[in-house]
Order: sequence, then structure tokens, then C-alpha cells
Amino acid sequence: MHNITLINGDGIGPEISQSVMKIIEASGLEINWDIQTAGQDVIEKEGTPLPDRVLDSIKKNKIALKAPVTTPIGKGFRSVNVQLRKSLDLYANLRPCKNLPNVQTKFDNVDLVVVRENTEDLYAGIEEKISDEEAHSIKIITKKATERICKFAFDYAVKNNRKEVCVVTKANIMKLSDGLFLDTYRQVAKSYPQIKQREILVDNLCMQLVQNPSQFDVLVLPNLYGDIVSDLCAGLIGGLGVAQGANIGYECAVFEPVHGSAPDIKGQNKANPTALLLSAIEMLRYINEFDYADKIEKALFKTLSEGEKTADLGGCLSTSEFTDIIISNL
Ligand code: NAI
Repeated sequence: MHNITLINGDGIGPEISQSVMKIIEASGLEINWDIQTAGQDVIEKEGTPLPDRVLDSIKKNKIALKAPVTTPIGKGFRSVNVQLRKSLDLYANLRPCKNLPNVQTKFDNVDLVVVRENTEDLYAGIEEKISDEEAHSIKIITKKATERICKFAFDYAVKNNRKEVCVVTKANIMKLSDGLFLDTYRQVAKSYPQIKQREILVDNLCMQLVQNPSQFDVLVLPNLYGDIVSDLCAGLIGGLGVAQGANIGYECAVFEPVHGSAPDIKGQNKANPTALLLSAIEMLRYINEFDYADKIEKALFKTLSEGEKTADLGGCLSTSEFTDIIISNL
């Protein structure tokens, strides 16, 4: 029996969480879910979108599945996602991008993994207003953070039978900061002779990704490039409804879909639970439940292959109908 924290989020979060819990339960795997609410809906009662009880639960269980939470733009509280990453030092953002059966996209042979540094770069939040007409943002790159993200990428490659880790920078222009990222990658790579090395500039990468994505395997990037490139890669495999992700640290790991809380379809039984389900499948592999992960993945792929889809993928199934078909395919 595993103890896992479930942040059921807001917007479509509770609907897709229900779906995923139901599917995992039907697979026969026993999980003791510690369900924790967070986000907009808890602010009124508890005064914060991320109460300590949520962090305490994740620290205790070491592992969490998280549905999306709403963050107001340009005002209100700080993003729960950013707070979680900082508080738990979840330094690696992992986004596997692989084509799904019967989900139409421009390319049918995408199978790559984006490993994004999650703690520094321009996201360090060091900004300065010089005048009404000038503002500065400081890009922080440290050897320590770069070393651990590059090690993470190479270790992931070894563990998952990947062949190549490609580092992505703009070191021709940012010679010191991206230069340090590149140098550190080269040093770390020496300990992994079995994995192929490759270096590419981020602008060239973007062009190559939209022309020939199958040439890439594992990509490791500083925070900002990682953020942008991982959304580009989500687009390559069918968009938000199917893009999974994870935030991983030394102590804890939080698995979550890339998409947000989709307030426009909240409570309508329309949301696609696939991205959260794929995040949960990756989570099961992380806790070494490979058989259950494979079993659920097969049922999901069978469902999609038979043309059973939610509206965002051109189908006509509701969240609950789609969930029930996956369960019957287990
Ligand atoms: P969004 O991802 O919530 O929605 C964009 C569009 O995609 C909408 O039309 C929505 O209906 C659709 N969509 C998203 N997920 C879907 C799913 N599973 N099934 C079917 N359709 C889906 O992005 P948006 O509207 O920019 O953000 C809404 C809220 O979510 C904001 O408050 C934002 O800050 C928050 N957000 C939270 C994230 C998280 O908790 N990890 C990540 C991204 C955004």
C-alpha cells in the first residue's frame, strides 16, 4: 500500500482527479490517497492558497499527484506551483513527449523528453525598475544547480534506455551564464560515456523541432528555454489535454499535467483526464510499480486506438464515459 498526496486542484481539477483515482483503483493497485485541497477555493477559508498542511503531507509521503490550480494573472497570490517548487526544492521539471495512438498530429514519431532546470535563470525573480522607461531582470546560472540538472538528465537517460542527452543554450551570445551551463554539461557528460552528447543553440532547436522532431531524445535546458520548448513539444504530440509532467527533487516528487484549471469547462464533465492519467502512470513508474503503470497505459492506448476520445481531441465522450471505457479496457 502506497501513501500518496493528491492535490485535487480547482477548475476541472476535482473532475479529472476523480477519474484518475477511479482508474487506478480499478487496476487493483492499492493507494492510500491523502487528499489535500489548494488554490483559489481554499483562500477564503484558510487565508492562503497553499496551507502548510499540503506541504507537510507531501514531505511525509514524499510523493504527490497534483491537478491544476488557478493563478490570477498580474494580481492576487503567488503561483501555488512556483511556491511548491521552491518550498520542496523540486529542481527538475520532466516532460516526456511521445505520440499517443490515434491522436492526429503533424508528426507520428515523436518520442523525446524535456528536462528543464526548475529553480534559477530568469525565474529567480530578481528584477529592478530603473526608471519608468527601463527595467532589468537578472539571469542567474550556478554551477551547483546546473550540475544537478545535468546529472538528473544523464541518470534519466541511463535508467530509461535513452541514447543521447542534448544540451540547449544560447552560449554564443550569453557567453558567461549559458557558457557556464554548457561547460558544466560537458564536465558531467564525462561520467556517462555510454550516452551520446550533443550541443545545440535554442533557436536552431526550435526550427529543428518543428521540421524533424524525431532526431531528438533527451534535452536538458535552463529554466526559461525549458519552459518555452516544453510547450512547443506538448504541441507536437496533440496539445494540452495529453501533455504530462513532473517536478522532482532529492526528497519529494510532484507529478502534474502541463495544462491549467480550464475554468471555461469547469463542472461540465467535458475535461480530458489523459494528461493527469499519464502523469500518474509516470508516477507509478517512479515508485517502481511498473506492472500497474503498463497495465493502465495499455488500457488508455487501447481506448484511444479505438477512437474513443473526449471533445478536445475531436471525440464526443464525457469525462466519465471516457473513464469508464478505460476501466473496461484494463
Ligand atoms: P488552461 O490550460 O487551463 O486552458 C487552456 C485551454 O485548454 C482552455 O480552452 C481549456 O478548456 C483547454 N483545456 C485545458 N486542459 C484541458 C483538459 N484536460 N481537457 C480539455 N480541455 C482542456 O490554461 P489557461 O486558461 O491559460 O489557465 C487557466 C488557469 O490555470 C489559470 O489560472 C492558470 O494560472 C492556471 N494554470 C495552472 C497550472 C497548474 O496548476 N499547473 C498550469 C497552467 C495554468
